[in-house]
Amino acid sequence: MSNTLVIGAGGFIGGFVAAAHLESHIPTFLLRRSGSNSETVFQMFKEKGATIIEGSFAEKEMMEKLLREHNIEVVICATGGGNILDQIALIEAIKSVGTIKRFLPSEFGHDIDKANPVEPGLTFYKHKRLIRRAIEKAGIPYTYICCNSIASWPYYNNIHPSKVTPPLDYFQIYGDGSVGAYFVSGKDIGKITEKAANDPRTLNKAIHFRPPSNLFNINQMASLWEAKLGHKLPRLTITAHQLLSIAAEMKIPESVVAALTHDIFFNGCQTNFSLDEEYDLEACKLYPEITFQTLDHCFDEFALTLKNKIRNINNNNNINNINNNIKHFAKPLMLINNNTVSQALDEAHAINNNGHAATFA
Ligand SMILES: NC(=O)c1ccc[n+]([C@@H]2O[C@H](COP(=O)([O-])OP(=O)(O)OC[C@H]3O[C@@H](n4cnc5c(N)ncnc54)[C@H](OP(=O)(O)O)[C@@H]3O)[C@@H](O)[C@H]2O)c1
Repeated sequence: MSNTLVIGAGGFIGGFVAAAHLESHIPTFLLRRSGSNSETVFQMFKEKGATIIEGSFAEKEMMEKLLREHNIEVVICATGGGNILDQIALIEAIKSVGTIKRFLPSEFGHDIDKANPVEPGLTFYKHKRLIRRAIEKAGIPYTYICCNSIASWPYYNNIHPSKVTPPLDYFQIYGDGSVGAYFVSGKDIGKITEKAANDPRTLNKAIHFRPPSNLFNINQMASLWEAKLGHKLPRLTITAHQLLSIAAEMKIPESVVAALTHDIFFNGCQTNFSLDEEYDLEACKLYPEITFQTLDHCFDEFALTLKNKIRNINNNNNINNINNNIKHFAKPLMLINNNTVSQALDEAHAINNNGHAATFA
C-alpha cells in the first residue's frame, strides 16, 4: 500500500478523504500548516493512525523535503477554493521529487474543462484548469475527481453544504425546479477518492460520480425533505436573473457560489454532456461493489442531527436565540421533535441560521 499524503484533512472534503484512507489502513500522512485551527480533527486522525506532518503545500522546497523524507507515493490535495493556485508550488515539488505515482489535485466538483459558468465562477474554474494543464505538462500521473454536488440542500448564498440542514421555513426553488444534479455523500466521495488514487484503471483519467439513485431535481429534493418534516413548506422561485445579478456583484466567494448554482440549475452543467469513453470513467461502473448512500439516507441524518441539537438545547435550557420570523410558517415538526410544535421549528431555524461557516464549493 502506498504512503499517501492528504492535504486539507482539517477541511470538509479532505476530512472525508483522510477518514477513508485510515479506514482502509493505508499509511496516511496529513499535512498540517502552522496556525491551523483544526487541531482537534488532526488529533482525532492521529489517534486513528495518521502521521501528522507540519508544513504548507505552497512552499516548494519544504514539500520536496517532506515528500522524500516520508517516501510519499500518492498525494491528494483538498485545499479550499481560495488557495487553488498555490498548488503550482506543490506540482513543482512533485515533479522534482519524481517518485509520486499519483496526484489528485483539489477538484471535487464539476468537470471544470466541460462546465462553463458565468464569472466569477469561470475564473475559479480557469484556476482549476490551469492546475490541470500544469500537471499534464509536468507529466505527473493524475486522477481528477468530478464528484458533482454534496448531498445537502444546495443553498446559493455561500452556506457551506456541511453545516446546515435543508430549509425549515421555505424552499428556494431554482427556476421551475426541473434540472437534475447528482448529490453524493461526503463519505462516498472519500471512499471513491481513496479507491481511485490506488487504481491503475484511473491513471490520467477523470472520474465522474453519476449514481442514478442520487440524481434529483430541486423539486424532488424539497418533497423528500417535506417527507422527513412531516409537513409541506412554501416554495419561492429564484430566477436565473437573480443568481446572475449576485454573480455580477463579483463578491468573492458569494458571487462564485451564485455563478455555480446558476450553472447547475439553469445550464444543467452536471448532466448536459456525455462522458468521453476513452478519458472519462463513471464511479458506479468502476466500483459496482459500492452502494452509494442515497439522498434519502443523508436527509435522515440531517433530521437526526437536528433532533439531537434541539434536545441538547432543551437540556441546556438555552433557547434564547429564537428567530420569530419563522412563526408565520410554523407547523408541527413531528419527525424532528415529538414534544413541541412551533417552538421546535423556531429553535431548529435558529440553529440553522447561526451554525454555518462562510466558505464555498
Ligand atoms: N462538490 C461540492 O459540492 C464541493 C463542496 C465543497 C468543496 N468542494 C471543493 O472541494 C475542494 C476542497 O474544499 P473544502 O471546502 O473541503 O475546503 P476547506 O474546508 O476550506 O478545507 C481546506 C483545507 O486546506 C488546508 N490548507 C489550505 N492551505 C493550506 C496550505 N498552504 N498548507 C496546508 N494546508 C492548507 C486548510 O487548512 P487550515 O485548517 O490550516 O485552514 C483546510 O483544512 C475545493 O476544490 C472545493 O472547490 C466541492
